[in-house]
Amino acid sequence: MTGPPPKRRICLIGFMGAGKTTVGKVLARHLKRQFFDLDELIERQEQRSIAAIFELSGERVFRAMESAALTKLLERSEDDYIVALGGGAFVQPQNRRMLEQAGAVTILLSAPLEELERRCKTQGTPRPLARNQAAFEHLFAARQEAYALAQFRVETLGREISDIVHEIERIIKVSN
Ligand code: S3P
Repeated sequence: MTGPPPKRRICLIGFMGAGKTTVGKVLARHLKRQFFDLDELIERQEQRSIAAIFELSGERVFRAMESAALTKLLERSEDDYIVALGGGAFVQPQNRRMLEQAGAVTILLSAPLEELERRCKTQGTPRPLARNQAAFEHLFAARQEAYALAQFRVETLGREISDIVHEIERIIKVSN
């Protein structure tokens, strides 16, 4: 296929440790598109970290902030950016509806549970919902049904970021 990929919002979803932010940044640079990380937008808006929001306000408040941040982002006039959602955002039905209405391409980055656990342990990011192993595993299982609603799935285990980015680029080209 020739020419630039068609422009639609690209939304990376997946569990904690799936690589949404890492892949999203490289993908955005490669496609010369803007990149947003939903958690980062929330932190900037709230002037505090996700961990602090969970600790001081609780998950329910965080979920409301997450939906509000997604609404605001989808209202932007540009329609060609890449966004990495936090691991729980796509699980909320109202967020999925918003993405569908916006015509976003939803791409699930997947990896086996053990790999996600390993990545979360080795990364510095403090994740409130990754502190307890049993709860982490339970959440992983509970979210599979919602994740399966993504339009595309990309396996990340044992792959170079550039390889994942090229697969996503191919998906973008066929998804218009
Ligand atoms: C969450 C994942 C986090 C962050 C928050 C809640 C979740 O984002 O949004 O801690 O519910 O899975 P990452 O998936 O980027 O770690």
